[in-house]
Amino acid sequence: MLRRPRRNRKSAAIRGMVEETRLHVNDLIFPVFLIDGKNEKESISSMPGIYRYSADLLLKEMEECLKLGIRTFDLFPRLPESVKDPLAIEATNENGLYLSTLRRIKQEFPEACIMTDVAMDPYSSEGHDGIVRDGKILNDETLEVLAKMAVAQARAGADIIGPSDMMDGRVEAIREALDDEGFQEVSIMSYTAKYASAYYGPFRDALGSAPKSGDKKTYQMDPANQREALVEADLDVAEGADFLMVKPALAYLDVIKLLRDNYELPIAAYNVSGEYSMIKAAARNGWLDGDRIMLETLLSIKRAGANIILTYFAKEFALLQAGK
Ligand code: PBG
Repeated sequence: MLRRPRRNRKSAAIRGMVEETRLHVNDLIFPVFLIDGKNEKESISSMPGIYRYSADLLLKEMEECLKLGIRTFDLFPRLPESVKDPLAIEATNENGLYLSTLRRIKQEFPEACIMTDVAMDPYSSEGHDGIVRDGKILNDETLEVLAKMAVAQARAGADIIGPSDMMDGRVEAIREALDDEGFQEVSIMSYTAKYASAYYGPFRDALGSAPKSGDKKTYQMDPANQREALVEADLDVAEGADFLMVKPALAYLDVIKLLRDNYELPIAAYNVSGEYSMIKAAARNGWLDGDRIMLETLLSIKRAGANIILTYFAKEFALLQAGK
């Protein structure tokens, strides 16, 4: 035998040299959940190890994460039903929970990179990402709301805007609104291929943001479709996105690879709540080795072509790397 691939696997040193993909804490974005109040830390039963924090405790949590090398966070609010309405007015309330906390975070940790979420669902009494009329999600009317939301977030200090709403034309609407207001430096990470997935269940528990009626299939993509992701990506590139994201990650590794092979922009993938919960559930039952599965899972997403991974495992990964 002239060729023996096993020679390249014979020792840890050689395996280390020939390793094609390496995970680094710099690759990760940590999604965090915010609630009102003081000294509040609520667990989320479907997401063991993940909490909703009031602003004061969130700052402490972020400080710990920053020390571990996590530099980028994606901030999501859980709001009481009392501040929700059909037009998501609370989304632009400068003194509301989200924007005031964002200002506080940027003041305390100017070096942290904060990504914000643009979509109406956490603020909407309908639990939809866009304006609902007669059971339909209105596209163009929603764009105005999204653009205002993005500008308000930029004004409060957002570094990256993450439109997760899947309305047509949103990246352009947001880019133009940001530029008009002088926020040329604020980036857009577009949820380019966001699928109508059942993997978002635990996240909707965390935020209390499940749709009150219907589903999200008229705006989020059909899990059966791959080529359609190219249509979305073409638009996002043309409309000025800085990053393209695929969501969820694990059941869509082919889509990550497809975008990676066809576009020059950095590719992100969102390792969503349900993907996290499945692993946690199995690990807690002693069915799988939680740490190893976490590493293998994150590695698979990076190997498929995502330079950036949004993941609830971020802190656990960083702790493991730090040997803690
Ligand atoms: C909604 C939004 C969702 C997630 C991020 N932004 C869920 C949805 O579309 O209902 C899901 C994240 C996760 O499951 O971890 N704009």
